[in-house]
Amino acid sequence: MSEAAAAPKRAPRASLGSPEGDDVFGAFDPRVARRFLAYLKPHRRSFIIAQVAVLFSAAGQLSMPLVIGWVTQSVIAHDVGRFHLALAAFAVAAAAFAAMFFLEEWLSQRLANRVIFDVRRHMFAHFQDISLSFMDKTHVGRLMSRLQGDVNSLQEFLENTTGAVGDFVQLIGIAVILVAIDVKLGLLTLTVLPALIGLRAIWLPYSKVAFRLARDASSTANSALAENINGVRTVQETRREALNFQLYAEKAQENFRAQAHAAWISQIMIPTVDILTGVALGIVVVVGGSEVLNSHLSVGVMVAFVFYVQKFFDPVRMLSMQYTIMQRAMAAAHRIFEVLDVPVTIADRPDARVLAVEAPTVEFRHVTFGYDPARPILHDVSFQVRPREVVALVGPTGSGKTSIISLTHRFYDVDQGQVLVGGVDVRDVSLDSLGRTIGMVLQEPFLFTGTIEENIRYNTEGASLETIVAAARAVSAHDFIMRLPEGYQTPLGQRGRNLSMGQRQLISFARALVADPQVLILDEATANIDSFTEQAIQKALKVLFAGRTCMVIAHRLATIRDADRIVVLQAGRILEQGSHDELMATDGLYRHLYTSAHASFDDEAVAATGDAEFATRT
Ligand SMILES: Nc1ncnc2c1ncn2[C@@H]1O[C@H](COP(=O)(O)OP(=O)(O)OP(=O)(O)O)[C@@H](O)[C@H]1O
Ligand SMILES: [Mg+2]
Repeated sequence: MSEAAAAPKRAPRASLGSPEGDDVFGAFDPRVARRFLAYLKPHRRSFIIAQVAVLFSAAGQLSMPLVIGWVTQSVIAHDVGRFHLALAAFAVAAAAFAAMFFLEEWLSQRLANRVIFDVRRHMFAHFQDISLSFMDKTHVGRLMSRLQGDVNSLQEFLENTTGAVGDFVQLIGIAVILVAIDVKLGLLTLTVLPALIGLRAIWLPYSKVAFRLARDASSTANSALAENINGVRTVQETRREALNFQLYAEKAQENFRAQAHAAWISQIMIPTVDILTGVALGIVVVVGGSEVLNSHLSVGVMVAFVFYVQKFFDPVRMLSMQYTIMQRAMAAAHRIFEVLDVPVTIADRPDARVLAVEAPTVEFRHVTFGYDPARPILHDVSFQVRPREVVALVGPTGSGKTSIISLTHRFYDVDQGQVLVGGVDVRDVSLDSLGRTIGMVLQEPFLFTGTIEENIRYNTEGASLETIVAAARAVSAHDFIMRLPEGYQTPLGQRGRNLSMGQRQLISFARALVADPQVLILDEATANIDSFTEQAIQKALKVLFAGRTCMVIAHRLATIRDADRIVVLQAGRILEQGSHDELMATDGLYRHLYTSAHASFDDEAVAATGDAEFATRT
């Protein structure tokens, strides 16, 4: 972990979403601590007040045994005046302790919540900007659940920091007071401390291992559970329930064993501390008692000693717990910063232009690109979509169609060549204006939690309900929307599961129509849709395409035939391009695919496997 901190600006590590680097405990790292302090800075006033409060509350708590000793002594001496005074002192100390303790707890909880709020906001903002290439390399689900845990660890730490200061003050305070009120007895009592430190040093490595195992086991079991819930359709469809249950049961068993072991290890320290407390009390009673008999010590002091010794191990226990919390928070903060440090490679240049071209062209100039630059999947691709032209991209699966539209929207940057929209390199225009110029309808439209109306309006603020209804009418979605229980106000289930595939498509068409982009990019759905919806979609496409520069990944023959021009791709290269008639006049892949007369290009077996055959023919 530490080498990553040394070079935080390095390319994102693939390990971010994987089990490696999943340390539970982190060593203290001043760099991480300093960055973390920056989050505390805006709240330094509450922080300081909380620290002062904790000092007062510790002082109140520290003075209590002394006051009790004083009360005892005045009772023994039958001194009523001093007895009342001592009682008053006790009341003041108790009240001060309680009030300051409350203030400190309240302030540190509030502080923790505010800091965590800032951390969460930063992470969310950063995750929205992180380039897709990072997401491709990262196990996002795992990353998310881990970051969630990390944020919780940080919060726990923040809520405990002021308490740790108080515990530290108490520990030192008790030791000093013990020695101050009776040097010999004080030192003798403190001899149990090295024993405790030694035992803890032996115990610590075991506990770390046990905690790590417990956490790994729990995350393995959790991810198995999550995967099964997410994939429950496939599980039921393939009747894998029994096998999956058995696999899960094994993981749950393992988790159970690991948790039980960790609990055992962590609990073992409690009786140990109790035994040591007993030893210290024994010393006080035996040695202190004989001193009282010898009249070297007052009963009051001995009573105070008993109380101090009983209190002594509380801060020890708390501090050792807080130390663990601190280590956990260190590892957590480290991972959070690691994510916040993932460079945003797709970002506006300082001099980015605002793209505002009426009916722009889209042009690829000798584009070479690979998700891994060492393995290009697009080779020297050049083509142009002229203003208000509809160009269909066709080609076998994996030929690079989706990659081409991803590059047009600059989800990735090209390795060689240029992608131009409206004659400007997409790297030179602001991402905002590029996003406004280009509208995308993806193969599997993503619908968000919310009503149909909200989903159609999505990012077009200020679009009235009339506009939305008009768009829905234009793409033939209005009728089915009105048949839904609450019409446009019908809430969509998770990702729109309560709609059919075709209906989701139509909603996303309406969304694109409302956004009214100059350039429309469409990844046609491959899912089979009933012929009625199919007709609705073909009609909707005509409306959508009208007056825009369009690039469509086409699977349906109807869409392809209607396009002004067709670009045929194979294995990342453009094989041929032209109108339907032109391509039919040649003896290329297109004619071959078309004449095999399938309803969809993707049904063609040669298309998927015939790279070699066509490579030799062309
Ligand atoms: N996010 C990614 N990371 C790495 N490789 C990818 C990624 N997306 C696609 N690829 C690879 O790039 C190549 C082109 O994929 P692309 O998705 O562009 O094909 P496609 O023509 O859209 O196929 P389909 O018709 O199946 O949608 C494939 O070899 C694929 O394995
Ligand atoms: Mg695709």
